[in-house]
Amino acid sequence: MVDLQAVLDSIYKELTPRIGEGKVADYIPELAKIDPNQFGMAVVTVDGKVYRAGDADVPFSIQSISKVFMLTLALGKVGEGLWKRVGREPSGSAFNSIVQLEHEHGIPRNPFINAGAIAVTDVVMAGHAPREAIGELLRFVRYLADDESVTIDEKVARSETQTGYRNFALANFMRAYKNIDHPVEHVLGVYFHQCALSMSCEQLARAGLFLAARGSNPMTGHSVVSPKRARRINALMLTCGHYDGSGDFAYHVGLPGKSGVGGGIFAVAPGVASIAAWSPGLNKVGNSQLGAVALEMLAARTGWSVF
Ligand code: DON
Repeated sequence: MVDLQAVLDSIYKELTPRIGEGKVADYIPELAKIDPNQFGMAVVTVDGKVYRAGDADVPFSIQSISKVFMLTLALGKVGEGLWKRVGREPSGSAFNSIVQLEHEHGIPRNPFINAGAIAVTDVVMAGHAPREAIGELLRFVRYLADDESVTIDEKVARSETQTGYRNFALANFMRAYKNIDHPVEHVLGVYFHQCALSMSCEQLARAGLFLAARGSNPMTGHSVVSPKRARRINALMLTCGHYDGSGDFAYHVGLPGKSGVGGGIFAVAPGVASIAAWSPGLNKVGNSQLGAVALEMLAARTGWSVF
Protein backbone atom coordinates (compact mmCIF):
# COMPACT_ATOMS: atom_id res chain seq x y z
CA MET A 1 0.00 0.00 0.00
CA VAL A 2 1.18 3.53 -0.77
CA ASP A 3 2.24 5.86 2.05
CA LEU A 4 -1.11 7.61 2.47
CA GLN A 5 0.14 10.34 4.75
CA ALA A 6 2.83 11.21 2.20
CA VAL A 7 0.18 11.27 -0.56
CA LEU A 8 -2.08 13.61 1.45
CA ASP A 9 0.88 15.85 2.36
CA SER A 10 1.90 16.11 -1.29
CA ILE A 11 -1.65 16.94 -2.41
CA TYR A 12 -1.95 19.60 0.28
CA LYS A 13 1.42 21.10 -0.64
CA GLU A 14 0.64 21.20 -4.36
CA LEU A 15 -2.81 22.68 -3.86
CA THR A 16 -1.81 25.29 -1.28
CA PRO A 17 -1.18 28.01 -3.93
CA ARG A 18 -4.66 27.36 -5.34
CA ILE A 19 -6.62 27.53 -2.06
CA GLY A 20 -9.41 30.08 -2.50
CA GLU A 21 -10.27 29.03 -6.08
CA GLY A 22 -13.92 28.76 -7.07
CA LYS A 23 -16.92 30.69 -5.84
CA VAL A 24 -18.47 30.25 -2.40
CA ALA A 25 -22.23 29.47 -2.52
CA ASP A 26 -24.10 32.69 -1.86
CA TYR A 27 -27.75 31.71 -2.41
CA ILE A 28 -27.78 30.66 1.26
CA PRO A 29 -26.67 33.95 2.89
CA GLU A 30 -25.03 32.25 5.88
CA LEU A 31 -22.79 30.19 3.58
CA ALA A 32 -21.67 33.35 1.73
CA LYS A 33 -19.86 34.39 4.93
CA ILE A 34 -17.47 31.41 4.89
CA ASP A 35 -13.76 32.17 4.40
CA PRO A 36 -12.89 30.59 1.01
CA ASN A 37 -9.22 30.19 2.00
CA GLN A 38 -9.63 26.80 3.62
CA PHE A 39 -8.84 23.29 2.48
CA GLY A 40 -8.96 20.00 4.34
CA MET A 41 -8.86 16.33 3.62
CA ALA A 42 -9.23 13.13 5.64
CA VAL A 43 -8.96 9.46 4.73
CA VAL A 44 -10.09 6.62 7.00
CA THR A 45 -9.08 3.15 5.86
CA VAL A 46 -11.09 0.00 6.51
CA ASP A 47 -8.30 -1.20 8.78
CA GLY A 48 -9.01 1.77 11.04
CA LYS A 49 -6.22 4.20 10.24
CA VAL A 50 -6.91 7.92 9.95
CA TYR A 51 -4.93 10.31 7.75
CA ARG A 52 -5.44 14.09 7.63
CA ALA A 53 -4.22 17.15 5.78
CA GLY A 54 -4.91 20.89 6.12
CA ASP A 55 -8.15 21.94 7.81
CA ALA A 56 -9.33 18.36 8.34
CA ASP A 57 -10.72 19.18 11.80
CA VAL A 58 -12.68 22.32 10.89
CA PRO A 59 -16.46 21.74 10.85
CA PHE A 60 -18.27 22.91 7.72
CA SER A 61 -21.83 22.78 6.42
CA ILE A 62 -22.18 19.36 4.79
CA GLN A 63 -25.33 20.38 2.87
CA SER A 64 -26.20 17.81 0.19
CA ILE A 65 -23.81 15.21 1.59
CA SER A 66 -26.48 14.75 4.29
CA LYS A 67 -28.67 13.23 1.56
CA VAL A 68 -26.57 10.05 1.77
CA PHE A 69 -27.38 9.66 5.48
CA MET A 70 -31.08 10.44 5.00
CA LEU A 71 -31.23 7.96 2.10
CA THR A 72 -29.70 5.29 4.35
CA LEU A 73 -32.36 5.99 7.01
CA ALA A 74 -35.19 5.93 4.44
CA LEU A 75 -34.05 2.61 2.96
CA GLY A 76 -33.90 1.24 6.50
CA LYS A 77 -37.52 2.27 7.06
CA VAL A 78 -39.26 1.36 3.81
CA GLY A 79 -36.68 -0.69 1.90
CA GLU A 80 -37.15 -1.02 -1.83
CA GLY A 81 -40.59 0.62 -1.49
CA LEU A 82 -38.67 3.90 -1.54
CA TRP A 83 -38.37 3.62 -5.32
CA LYS A 84 -42.09 4.30 -5.74
CA ARG A 85 -41.34 7.83 -4.53
CA VAL A 86 -38.06 8.59 -6.25
CA GLY A 87 -36.10 7.24 -9.25
CA ARG A 88 -32.57 5.99 -9.63
CA GLU A 89 -31.44 7.69 -12.83
CA PRO A 90 -29.01 10.57 -13.26
CA SER A 91 -30.86 13.77 -14.11
CA GLY A 92 -28.28 15.59 -16.23
CA SER A 93 -29.79 18.71 -14.70
CA ALA A 94 -28.76 21.11 -11.95
CA PHE A 95 -29.23 20.03 -8.34
CA ASN A 96 -32.16 22.38 -7.83
CA SER A 97 -33.87 21.93 -11.20
CA ILE A 98 -37.66 21.63 -11.46
CA VAL A 99 -37.97 20.89 -15.20
CA GLN A 100 -38.28 17.09 -15.15
CA LEU A 101 -40.86 16.99 -12.37
CA GLU A 102 -43.81 17.97 -14.56
CA HIS A 103 -43.23 15.40 -17.30
CA GLU A 104 -42.40 12.75 -14.73
CA HIS A 105 -45.51 13.20 -12.57
CA GLY A 106 -43.80 14.62 -9.50
CA ILE A 107 -41.39 11.67 -9.14
CA PRO A 108 -37.84 13.06 -8.94
CA ARG A 109 -35.11 11.37 -10.96
CA ASN A 110 -32.93 10.34 -8.01
CA PRO A 111 -32.53 10.80 -4.22
CA PHE A 112 -29.63 13.26 -4.52
CA ILE A 113 -31.11 16.12 -6.53
CA ASN A 114 -32.98 18.48 -4.21
CA ALA A 115 -36.46 17.30 -5.25
CA GLY A 116 -35.50 13.66 -4.64
CA ALA A 117 -33.89 14.40 -1.30
CA ILE A 118 -36.98 16.31 -0.16
CA ALA A 119 -39.14 13.29 -1.04
CA VAL A 120 -36.73 11.02 0.89
CA THR A 121 -36.96 13.32 3.92
CA ASP A 122 -40.77 13.13 3.71
CA VAL A 123 -40.47 9.32 3.86
CA VAL A 124 -38.23 9.44 6.95
CA MET A 125 -40.72 11.77 8.68
CA ALA A 126 -43.57 9.24 8.61
CA GLY A 127 -44.89 8.88 12.15
CA HIS A 128 -42.63 11.61 13.52
CA ALA A 129 -42.97 15.25 14.42
CA PRO A 130 -40.39 17.32 12.47
CA ARG A 131 -38.24 17.83 15.57
CA GLU A 132 -38.13 14.06 16.18
CA ALA A 133 -37.06 13.39 12.59
CA ILE A 134 -34.22 15.93 12.96
CA GLY A 135 -33.24 14.27 16.23
CA GLU A 136 -33.29 10.83 14.64
CA LEU A 137 -30.95 11.95 11.86
CA LEU A 138 -28.58 13.71 14.28
CA ARG A 139 -28.42 10.62 16.52
CA PHE A 140 -27.80 8.43 13.47
CA VAL A 141 -24.95 10.59 12.18
CA ARG A 142 -23.36 10.81 15.67
CA TYR A 143 -23.60 7.03 15.93
CA LEU A 144 -22.04 6.57 12.47
CA ALA A 145 -19.21 9.00 13.23
CA ASP A 146 -18.90 7.65 16.79
CA ASP A 147 -18.76 11.28 17.84
CA GLU A 148 -21.33 13.06 20.01
CA SER A 149 -19.92 16.46 19.09
CA VAL A 150 -21.53 16.51 15.61
CA THR A 151 -24.08 19.36 15.57
CA ILE A 152 -26.56 21.17 13.38
CA ASP A 153 -25.80 24.81 12.64
CA GLU A 154 -29.10 26.54 13.45
CA LYS A 155 -28.00 29.78 11.77
CA VAL A 156 -27.46 27.97 8.46
CA ALA A 157 -30.81 26.17 8.78
CA ARG A 158 -32.58 29.46 9.51
CA SER A 159 -30.79 31.23 6.68
CA GLU A 160 -31.95 28.63 4.17
CA THR A 161 -35.49 28.61 5.60
CA GLN A 162 -35.67 32.33 4.83
CA THR A 163 -34.33 32.09 1.29
CA GLY A 164 -35.03 28.57 0.01
CA TYR A 165 -37.67 29.63 -2.49
CA ARG A 166 -36.71 27.02 -5.08
CA ASN A 167 -36.99 24.22 -2.55
CA PHE A 168 -40.43 25.50 -1.52
CA ALA A 169 -41.39 25.43 -5.20
CA LEU A 170 -40.10 21.86 -5.64
CA ALA A 171 -41.84 20.60 -2.51
CA ASN A 172 -45.16 22.29 -3.35
CA PHE A 173 -44.99 20.90 -6.88
CA MET A 174 -44.45 17.37 -5.58
CA ARG A 175 -47.19 17.81 -3.00
CA ALA A 176 -49.57 18.66 -5.86
CA TYR A 177 -48.66 15.25 -7.32
CA LYS A 178 -49.20 13.64 -3.90
CA ASN A 179 -45.54 12.72 -3.63
CA ILE A 180 -45.16 14.70 -0.39
CA ASP A 181 -47.34 13.54 2.53
CA HIS A 182 -46.51 16.12 5.18
CA PRO A 183 -47.01 19.89 5.21
CA VAL A 184 -44.36 21.45 2.99
CA GLU A 185 -43.04 23.75 5.72
CA HIS A 186 -42.54 20.73 8.03
CA VAL A 187 -40.69 18.69 5.38
CA LEU A 188 -38.47 21.62 4.47
CA GLY A 189 -37.87 22.39 8.15
CA VAL A 190 -36.35 18.91 8.47
CA TYR A 191 -34.56 19.12 5.10
CA PHE A 192 -32.93 22.49 5.90
CA HIS A 193 -31.75 21.15 9.27
CA GLN A 194 -30.27 18.00 7.71
CA CYS A 195 -28.39 20.15 5.19
CA ALA A 196 -27.11 22.31 8.07
CA LEU A 197 -25.29 19.39 9.72
CA SER A 198 -21.86 20.68 10.59
CA MET A 199 -18.99 18.18 10.35
CA SER A 200 -15.26 18.13 9.77
CA CYS A 201 -13.59 16.08 7.05
CA GLU A 202 -12.47 13.58 9.67
CA GLN A 203 -15.97 13.22 11.17
CA LEU A 204 -17.44 12.80 7.70
CA ALA A 205 -14.93 10.18 6.62
CA ARG A 206 -15.54 8.25 9.84
CA ALA A 207 -19.33 8.51 9.46
CA GLY A 208 -19.20 7.16 5.90
CA LEU A 209 -16.77 4.35 6.59
CA PHE A 210 -19.59 1.76 6.55
CA LEU A 211 -20.03 2.41 2.82
CA ALA A 212 -16.40 1.48 2.18
CA ALA A 213 -16.60 -1.62 4.35
CA ARG A 214 -19.59 -3.60 3.08
CA GLY A 215 -22.09 -1.90 5.36
CA SER A 216 -20.31 -2.22 8.73
CA ASN A 217 -18.06 0.24 10.47
CA PRO A 218 -14.85 -1.65 11.29
CA MET A 219 -13.78 1.01 13.83
CA THR A 220 -16.90 0.76 15.98
CA GLY A 221 -18.05 -2.74 15.07
CA HIS A 222 -21.49 -1.31 14.23
CA SER A 223 -23.36 -3.10 11.48
CA VAL A 224 -25.24 -0.33 9.65
CA VAL A 225 -26.63 -1.82 6.41
CA SER A 226 -26.24 -5.06 4.46
CA PRO A 227 -23.35 -5.39 1.99
CA LYS A 228 -25.90 -5.29 -0.85
CA ARG A 229 -27.39 -2.03 0.37
CA ALA A 230 -23.95 -0.45 0.78
CA ARG A 231 -23.16 -1.41 -2.82
CA ARG A 232 -26.38 0.12 -4.03
CA ILE A 233 -25.91 3.40 -2.17
CA ASN A 234 -22.42 3.59 -3.68
CA ALA A 235 -23.87 2.93 -7.15
CA LEU A 236 -26.27 5.84 -6.69
CA MET A 237 -23.46 8.12 -5.54
CA LEU A 238 -21.38 7.17 -8.56
CA THR A 239 -24.15 7.85 -11.07
CA CYS A 240 -25.98 10.75 -9.40
CA GLY A 241 -23.82 12.14 -6.56
CA HIS A 242 -22.55 15.17 -8.45
CA TYR A 243 -25.71 16.08 -10.40
CA ASP A 244 -24.87 17.24 -13.92
CA GLY A 245 -21.20 16.89 -12.98
CA SER A 246 -21.50 13.16 -12.17
CA GLY A 247 -20.07 11.95 -15.46
CA ASP A 248 -17.14 14.30 -15.16
CA PHE A 249 -16.43 13.22 -11.57
CA ALA A 250 -16.56 9.53 -12.60
CA TYR A 251 -14.23 10.30 -15.50
CA HIS A 252 -11.67 12.20 -13.46
CA VAL A 253 -11.92 10.53 -10.04
CA GLY A 254 -13.66 7.19 -10.62
CA LEU A 255 -15.11 6.83 -7.11
CA PRO A 256 -18.66 6.98 -5.75
CA GLY A 257 -18.99 10.44 -4.22
CA LYS A 258 -21.41 13.03 -2.93
CA SER A 259 -20.86 16.76 -2.98
CA GLY A 260 -22.44 19.63 -1.06
CA VAL A 261 -22.60 23.38 -1.68
CA GLY A 262 -20.69 23.93 1.57
CA GLY A 263 -17.67 22.77 -0.46
CA GLY A 264 -17.43 19.25 0.91
CA ILE A 265 -17.09 16.05 -1.09
CA PHE A 266 -17.45 12.63 0.48
CA ALA A 267 -16.09 9.70 -1.54
CA VAL A 268 -15.76 5.96 -1.13
CA ALA A 269 -13.04 3.61 -2.31
CA PRO A 270 -15.00 0.36 -1.85
CA GLY A 271 -13.17 -2.16 0.32
CA VAL A 272 -10.37 0.31 0.97
CA ALA A 273 -11.25 3.68 2.50
CA SER A 274 -13.68 6.49 3.07
CA ILE A 275 -12.57 9.99 2.11
CA ALA A 276 -13.67 13.58 2.70
CA ALA A 277 -12.29 16.69 1.05
CA TRP A 278 -13.38 20.26 1.68
CA SER A 279 -12.73 23.67 0.22
CA PRO A 280 -15.60 26.19 0.08
CA GLY A 281 -15.04 27.55 -3.47
CA LEU A 282 -17.37 25.82 -5.97
CA ASN A 283 -17.11 25.11 -9.70
CA LYS A 284 -19.81 25.93 -12.29
CA VAL A 285 -22.05 23.00 -11.34
CA GLY A 286 -21.92 23.70 -7.61
CA ASN A 287 -19.31 21.16 -6.53
CA SER A 288 -16.11 21.98 -4.62
CA GLN A 289 -13.50 22.99 -7.15
CA LEU A 290 -10.38 22.08 -5.16
CA GLY A 291 -12.14 19.18 -3.43
CA ALA A 292 -12.65 17.54 -6.82
CA VAL A 293 -9.05 18.25 -7.87
CA ALA A 294 -7.75 16.81 -4.59
CA LEU A 295 -9.80 13.64 -5.05
CA GLU A 296 -8.57 13.28 -8.62
CA MET A 297 -4.98 13.52 -7.35
CA LEU A 298 -5.69 11.01 -4.57
CA ALA A 299 -7.30 8.51 -6.95
CA ALA A 300 -4.41 8.85 -9.42
CA ARG A 301 -1.75 8.42 -6.73
CA THR A 302 -3.40 5.46 -4.98
CA GLY A 303 -4.95 3.65 -7.95
CA TRP A 304 -8.28 3.59 -6.07
CA SER A 305 -10.53 4.29 -9.08
CA VAL A 306 -13.21 1.61 -9.26
CA PHE A 307 -12.63 1.28 -13.00
O1 DON B 1 -31.18 22.57 -0.91
C1 DON B 1 -30.17 23.20 -1.17
O2 DON B 1 -30.10 23.92 -2.16
C2 DON B 1 -28.97 23.05 -0.25
N1 DON B 1 -29.41 22.91 1.10
C3 DON B 1 -28.16 21.84 -0.60
C4 DON B 1 -27.70 21.82 -2.06
C5 DON B 1 -26.40 21.18 -2.28
O3 DON B 1 -25.59 21.00 -1.39
C6 DON B 1 -26.05 20.88 -3.69
N2 DON B 1 -24.72 20.32 -3.77
N3 DON B 1 -23.77 20.48 -4.43
